[in-house]
Amino acid sequence: MSIEDNKRVIVALDYPEADSAIAMAKQLDPEVSRVKVGKELFTRCGPDVVERLHALGFEVFLDLKFHDIPNTVAKACGVAAELGVWMVNVHASGGRRMMEAAREEVEKRSQGPQRTSLIAVTVLTSMERSDLAEMGLDIDPIDQVKRLATLTESSGLDGVVCSAQEAAAIRAQASDQFQLVTPGIRPAGSVVGDQRRIMTPAEAIAAGSTYLVVGRPITGSEDPKAAAIAVQSEVDLALGSR
Ligand code: C5P
Repeated sequence: MSIEDNKRVIVALDYPEADSAIAMAKQLDPEVSRVKVGKELFTRCGPDVVERLHALGFEVFLDLKFHDIPNTVAKACGVAAELGVWMVNVHASGGRRMMEAAREEVEKRSQGPQRTSLIAVTVLTSMERSDLAEMGLDIDPIDQVKRLATLTESSGLDGVVCSAQEAAAIRAQASDQFQLVTPGIRPAGSVVGDQRRIMTPAEAIAAGSTYLVVGRPITGSEDPKAAAIAVQSEVDLALGSR
């Protein structure tokens, strides 16, 4: 793994309004973790919450999973880049022309020295083989994940969101630079909640993950800052032995 980045934990700020998200961010350290803003928080608060997080020094993953015609997705990704977010994402099933257009627009409109990272969702982890069959796709989800990851990389994107269970298969076929962003992480001893197929931070890193999305094990902890530092330390150890 040749990605030079020691901040590997992205804390999911899954809150219905800005004040709770900002209150949680204030308990974290932007030197240790990044944060993720998803559809619920963004639909309620818009760019304002992103700007408030930036003002606190956080790099933001804007997890809006755009999927539309190339021009529309490219323009939306361009606005995200102008907003200065660290990472934004689209659905790979929007196809090559959509992803290439998005990549071009992000390149043009990124602010500052570091371009906004553009990644793609392959197959939603909620989808099973029968769901794909209903959509006319007679294929195992993991094969479709691998196919869309290849398409994502060849369209010039920086990586994919995937489950840690899929990470090893994608890592085996992708370049070292290709970023694998994996949710469903549970440090040993934490509450599993509604997540099904989980991995510990160390297991996810060993499987080839680049960034770990962690929500409730950090935000639901009594000391979120200490919990985030503990996950990052586990990652550091695992990276050292990879
Ligand atoms: O609280 P928890 O650690 O389960 O939060 C995980 C975050 O990752 C949530 O924001 C969730 O929406 C997101 N996510 C996920 N599984 C996926 C894709 C995204 O849990 N397959």
